[in-house]
Amino acid sequence: MGQRTFCSFPPFAAARVNERSLLTILKFFVNFVPGMKKLHHIIEAQQFDRPWLEEELFPLAKEMEKVAKGGGSNVLFRKRMITLFYEPSTRTRASFEIAMNTLGGKVVFSTENARQFSSAAKGETLEDTIKVLNSYHPDVIVLRYDEEGGAKRAAEVSSVPIINAGDGTGQHPTQALLDLYTIQKEIGQIAGVSIAMVGDLARGRTVRSLSYLLGKFPDVKIYYVSPEVARIRDDIKDYLKKHGVWFTEGYDLREVAPKVNVIYQTRTQKERGLQLEKYGPKAFCIINQEVLDLMKKDAILMHPLPHTEEIAPEVDSDPRAAYFRQAENGLYIRMALLKKLLKQKAKG
Ligand code: CP
Repeated sequence: MGQRTFCSFPPFAAARVNERSLLTILKFFVNFVPGMKKLHHIIEAQQFDRPWLEEELFPLAKEMEKVAKGGGSNVLFRKRMITLFYEPSTRTRASFEIAMNTLGGKVVFSTENARQFSSAAKGETLEDTIKVLNSYHPDVIVLRYDEEGGAKRAAEVSSVPIINAGDGTGQHPTQALLDLYTIQKEIGQIAGVSIAMVGDLARGRTVRSLSYLLGKFPDVKIYYVSPEVARIRDDIKDYLKKHGVWFTEGYDLREVAPKVNVIYQTRTQKERGLQLEKYGPKAFCIINQEVLDLMKKDAILMHPLPHTEEIAPEVDSDPRAAYFRQAENGLYIRMALLKKLLKQKAKG
């Protein structure tokens, strides 16, 4: 069919179609293939590689911490950001908007609960909304969508960079970047780290993205701790097997707590249908004084937040509880990402 279509065009038109196809292929590679230098859409954790993380993003995040604490800069003067959120958020939306303001750029349109407060309520598709927002000339769109695959769908119709700020039960790549940066800062290295990921692993998008990123570092050990109904999904396990990453699955955090450098606790995704009481009697997935007593003295406790009953109130005051420091790192990582995205010179 394709051949016949080409034959029916005059030669110059066929050449233009070929040129356009080539451009589309090139754009795909620039946007999605790890190791390419130009950053465009940020859709999934797999798109980043270890040298870029360690040699470019993390040093820039460190520099951004100094910029933020020193009152900001004007490096993104005249850059315009839209934040379009179909699900609730405190950290992701606030830190992206504050990051943009701190670097001298502007948030030109912002909505949370877009299901209710945008024309999605009248039945508009995500694709149409993104096309219209593109026509208002922003430099970047930060999107939190309520279905897996939303960010990829948006990127397919957007020439403006899309940043995935969480897509349903899919991924939350910028959270994983700040999580990894926190491990680097707190533990001193990522290679060789042992981590327990705990809770609702089937629906939690942060553990999915973090697993992909940890899989890029050598000698990492991952202990997935969850009730049977909330096991990490097969796509992640397949990825880890393919990349030779050690992992195991269990349901009692007390058995794992003494072995690891990091406990990464997650919230029960009640809005996605899981109740803690349905965990069943065998699963032990909460952090309390008993778990603190079992943990290594130099281990840390992380959580993407917000935290609820899966962390007992007394845990917050333990110096190993790193989750508020982790949330702060989100500002520096997102400043670094915006600077990388909006001030880069084409290299690749
Ligand atoms: N960690 C995280 O995504 O938090 P918010 O839902 O508050 O953005």
